[in-house]
Amino acid sequence: MTFQLTYRSEAIEGISMEHINTILQTSRKFNSAHNITGCLIFYKGFFVQLLEGNEEIVKALFDNIEGDKRHNNVDLLSQEQVEQRVFDGWDMAFLNPSEEVTNGKREALLGTLDELAKDEKTPNFTSKVFWYNVETLLSDRGFYQSRSRE
Ligand SMILES: Cc1cc2nc3c(=O)[nH]c(=O)nc-3n(C[C@H](O)[C@H](O)[C@H](O)COP(=O)(O)O)c2cc1C
Repeated sequence: MTFQLTYRSEAIEGISMEHINTILQTSRKFNSAHNITGCLIFYKGFFVQLLEGNEEIVKALFDNIEGDKRHNNVDLLSQEQVEQRVFDGWDMAFLNPSEEVTNGKREALLGTLDELAKDEKTPNFTSKVFWYNVETLLSDRGFYQSRSRE
């Protein structure tokens, strides 16, 4: 069994790609050493992340992440024990979709995310919540619209 968790948060004003790269470096080092996998989305000042691995390690890591000064309003959306990982082999996949969006690939990307959020093959609730939030963020809807900046 694997423990899976997803949350969203708001990056501090003026966060730079340097900050993000530092986060990714730390994450990849720690996560690969502790068999943690997952995916981090950064778009319009919001983060959405999915983490999976040993329950105690994931929960301790999340406590750490929650206290990180590079973001605020950390909102835990879902957590559960699952049969299989969604990001097996990814110490931390990263997607910053601005380019795809300006490239006219927006519709394709949103379509794919929509499929992933609904797909019966998506193995569990937490990963559906993750994909649903990514899709909502990228289409500037709901929670992400009301607080969207840029
Ligand atoms: C949005 C976001 C996502 C993060 N994801 C991870 C992660 O997956 N793995 C990790 O080790 N640190 C991650 N961090 C960094 C942790 O918050 C923290 O800096 C790291 O655990 C090192 O903590 P320490 O300096 O107390 O040792 C993330 C930080 C932010 C802001």
